[in-house]
Amino acid sequence: MAEFQKPLTLATDFMSLIKSITAYKVLNSRSDWTVRAQVTLEDGTVASQTVPEGASKGENESISVPIDEAIRNIRIDIAPALVGKSPFNQRDIDETMIKLDGTDNDSNLGGNAVLAVSLAVAKVAAKSQGKELYTYLRDLYLEGNDSADSGEAPKGSDFKFPTPVFNILNGGKHAQNGLPFQEFMVIPAMNLSYEKKLEVGVACYKTLKEHLHSEDLSIGVGDEGGFAPVGLSVKEALDKLVSAVKEANFTLGKDVFLGTDVAAGSFYDQERSLYIFEDAGMELTTDEFFDFYEGLLKDYPLIYVEDPLFEADFAAWHKFFGRFKEKTMVVGDDLVVTNAKILEKALQEKTINAVIVKPNQVGSLTETFDFVRLAQENGLVVTVSHRSGDTAEDTFVSDLALAVGADFVKFGATARGERVVKYNRILEIYHQKT
Ligand code: PGA
Ligand code: ZN
Repeated sequence: MAEFQKPLTLATDFMSLIKSITAYKVLNSRSDWTVRAQVTLEDGTVASQTVPEGASKGENESISVPIDEAIRNIRIDIAPALVGKSPFNQRDIDETMIKLDGTDNDSNLGGNAVLAVSLAVAKVAAKSQGKELYTYLRDLYLEGNDSADSGEAPKGSDFKFPTPVFNILNGGKHAQNGLPFQEFMVIPAMNLSYEKKLEVGVACYKTLKEHLHSEDLSIGVGDEGGFAPVGLSVKEALDKLVSAVKEANFTLGKDVFLGTDVAAGSFYDQERSLYIFEDAGMELTTDEFFDFYEGLLKDYPLIYVEDPLFEADFAAWHKFFGRFKEKTMVVGDDLVVTNAKILEKALQEKTINAVIVKPNQVGSLTETFDFVRLAQENGLVVTVSHRSGDTAEDTFVSDLALAVGADFVKFGATARGERVVKYNRILEIYHQKT
């Protein structure tokens, strides 16, 4: 049997080169145009990839250029540089684009243009080999690991299913409801199956909806599918999650835990060095904010706190980490922006024990892999994430999470097509594998 399968992996089948690359615009979930790149190989295989866009971005993220420019840059500059190259050498593809751009934040070609092509190339390569994307990405990821080079790591066989963190109540820049913290999450216990974890998320989402409705609060949703009622304070929002978990008949701190993405940079006044809680008319110094966190961590089973502080204040992050690292995961998103160089600094300064992974923060698959590799080598918890402006048919991040063996995925609530499709893609893989 093995002999009959072998021709599929003959080197000649892998030799198909890139024949053409084009791009066009499509809509994302926020009614904004975004770029889609389409790559065709000489063997006729075609694949395309759309890029997402954040609202609460880190200052050091790769730069997106306006949509028409991104399309032009792909057609006029990137395509001629990549046509004729092998799609199976991802590092060569990405490094060619990085060199062509010539900046360290993709600001010439646009991170949106570069990433669309980078991911589309990986997709078309996987398709041409007849592989599932997560399998192809897994092999690509392991190829870059030292252990894989020495033949120690298993190739593409052992897949770990991540735990979703469900953002069921939205604030910050995703809701404009006056709630300063951006995301309020329920996190199912790690020991459940992936399918059961989704069931937990769905149950809490539904009881939260009933609960808000019974209190005459709005059940309209924010950018990531979580509810976005007006008039709640941070503590009241967490109380709503506590009620939802209880009303779904789960035990808080055993079956379900809580998390938050503070996205603190979005309400930090840099000139006055104060965190501004407009809802409560409260202005906190960094030290006062620490005391606020102390209270939250005492009162709620918050096992996950993302971007608790303004990203450029590494000294404050270091203090926060020292004080709270035993109590919660301290997760860097805007702090490290999927950038291995910045992660090195964050590690040196002892600021985090967990990271968010968003390919469009750094602009290419190779750089994303380099970042995750560094994070995993240093024992950090890894969460692969969507963006608040995302595309309904795009599930690249689901396959990426499987490929790198992410601990968590963050795809929003269990509502809105562009969120659900990502959870469902992992469910699809789950049923292929179990
Ligand atoms: P963004 O939000 O996509 O708007 O940046 C997500 C996050 O901050 O995690
Ligand atoms: Zn975040």
